[in-house]
Amino acid sequence: MEQTVVVNGVEHAVNVDGSKPLLWVLRDQLALTGTKFGCGMAQCGACTVLIDGQPTRSCVTPLASVNGREVTTIEGLAPSVKQLHPLQQAWIEEQVPQCGYCQSGQLMSAAALLEANPNPTDSDIDQAMQGNICRCGMYSRIRKAIKSAAASSAASSDQDYSDAEVTHG
Ligand code: FES
Ligand code: FES
Repeated sequence: MEQTVVVNGVEHAVNVDGSKPLLWVLRDQLALTGTKFGCGMAQCGACTVLIDGQPTRSCVTPLASVNGREVTTIEGLAPSVKQLHPLQQAWIEEQVPQCGYCQSGQLMSAAALLEANPNPTDSDIDQAMQGNICRCGMYSRIRKAIKSAAASSAASSDQDYSDAEVTHG
């Protein structure tokens, strides 16, 4: 049966059963393979995507449940092909990825955190990221990169504000 799903701002019609997990629709039907399969039981976070901005384990999310909602995957995180998301930039600068397998899920959870809380404390970060397992143990770099992205986003907002003051007097 045909279902529609909106991913990264694009509507797709897919001919699959509505009970199929969103993860496999993304990977098999839409060729968006940045979202990873780890445990398949909502235990590791590798498959995390945003649904209406909320971090969600796509391995246990039936396609039918996302009808009419906005799905964002790692492929849609950057604002444009020429500009990385501040978290992606910080991830590179802090050399967070090791094997890389958990990283798209980590980034999506971190993006939701910064959207809700632009200046998170260590404990905010630990709480928001606790469901994302990294078997390479990169937790301290992840935390550092989230703080660095928060600081760079705050600095660029200050710059925007002062530019606006110059423009508008
Ligand atoms: S694959 Fe979905 S939480 Fe592990
Ligand atoms: S970087 Fe290897 S599992 Fe996280």
